[in-house]
Amino acid sequence: MADQVLVEVKDRVMWIRMNRPEKKNALTGAMYHAMSEALTQSATDAAVRAVLITGTEDCFTAGNDLVDFANAKPGGPAPAMTFLQAISTAAKPVIAAVSGVAVGIGTTMLLHCDLVYAGVSAKFHLPFVNLGLCAEGGSSLILPAMLGQHRAAELLLFGDPFGPETAKEFGIVNQIFPEAELWASAGAKAQQLAEKPPAAMRATKALLKSHTSATLAETMQREGNQFGELLQGPEAREAMTAFMERRKPDFSRF
Ligand code: COA
Repeated sequence: MADQVLVEVKDRVMWIRMNRPEKKNALTGAMYHAMSEALTQSATDAAVRAVLITGTEDCFTAGNDLVDFANAKPGGPAPAMTFLQAISTAAKPVIAAVSGVAVGIGTTMLLHCDLVYAGVSAKFHLPFVNLGLCAEGGSSLILPAMLGQHRAAELLLFGDPFGPETAKEFGIVNQIFPEAELWASAGAKAQQLAEKPPAAMRATKALLKSHTSATLAETMQREGNQFGELLQGPEAREAMTAFMERRKPDFSRF
């Protein structure tokens, strides 16, 4: 399991790589756990000055594992929530380098990163409603604040994918790189941060987050409760079954 998330510290940058390419890096409980642990460790490890999250070369992540979603028990452990809490409260700068698809939590986790770099092939997607679910990861708070209510509604209600140019225009992505240069360029940005005075860096990051942290935690809790209920409901069941049967879901009977 450990190799589905690769964690390595290089030149004071902790690289966290989602590495389950055969399932498009879909995130399982164990993978969330490994990523949460790494983030927690990064906070106290003096050898780490910045964190860089990536997927594999052609895929960031297809989001939560849909088989896990289909098997989720009511009120069961929510490793995704633990991960979102860890990334949203990370003390040191977190950078993401997105290549290929970033679905669901693959996009919402970016809203908690300090800097986001994307390859030209990146594709962002918030398909929660189409899966019988609702916004998560603080996206119902952060997206309207970032993009305005109507553009946030467009992304969350239609749940259509969007490319790196749109993500950059919306402020979700800082910079777009040719695919072949993405990791090196994002790595160089992380390196730049790692060389700066660490206490000043942490204080500035904390100040940037301080205006929203209490509301964000509350929103994430509220979203999580609603999400958990919907996940047990018939609409989500239909959506998950349709994905596994490789057919279009039919919501006409609800
Ligand atoms: N959970 C579990 N398995 C997933 C997955 C997910 N979220 N996303 C992809 N996979 C699996 C597929 O079932 C397939 O497995 P198989 O080869 O054993 O059949 C494999 O990964 C490759 O996926 P495939 O759909 O063939 O690749 P693609 O390039 O045609 O499409 C995606 C990639 C990501 C666009 C598509 O797989 C997709 O839409 N996945 C679901 C994303 C999603 O809804 N995530 C939840 C968000 S809340």
